[in-house]
Amino acid sequence: MIRDVLRMGDPRLWERSNEVMRFGTAELSSLLADMRDTMRAQNGAGLAAPQIGVPLRVVIFGMEDNPRYPDAEPVPYTELVNPVLTRLSDETEDGWEGCLSVPGFRGVVPRWARIRYTGFDPDGRKIARECTGFHARVVQHETDHLDGILYPMRITDMRQFGFTDVLFPDMAGVDQDE
Ligand code: NI
Repeated sequence: MIRDVLRMGDPRLWERSNEVMRFGTAELSSLLADMRDTMRAQNGAGLAAPQIGVPLRVVIFGMEDNPRYPDAEPVPYTELVNPVLTRLSDETEDGWEGCLSVPGFRGVVPRWARIRYTGFDPDGRKIARECTGFHARVVQHETDHLDGILYPMRITDMRQFGFTDVLFPDMAGVDQDE
């Protein structure tokens, strides 16, 4: 079921979400189905449970040929529960981000260039990966949501924050709200 996405200003987006304690449950499976439906309906590259008002440490992400990110490399569709991130170098990279909770805007955000992430799939099997580039960016963006952080809070140059259709007029007509 497609759910409403909370928008910036809703205090629920500022809260720290709770660890999932039980895996393989009908509740978790139904939450993930709703998250998947909601992300796909909006052409999102990722979604965190608190964005649909559920304060649990659950994120999904993945992207193959997303029209909103034509230059980004594919990221395998992943359902990640209780994620933990570790940076693998001090290097950061600037890149454009958007958010389904901040519709109509894009901003440049510095992120760690190389990370490792661990967590669990919905059945409690361990996931551990190392990644770079857009994959690393989307995981950092989504896990930030679990700590009540939206990407505008990480922008260092506010001149690189603005309306998507002003920044990228060539992309007009493509659904650009992430
Ligand atoms: Ni977001």
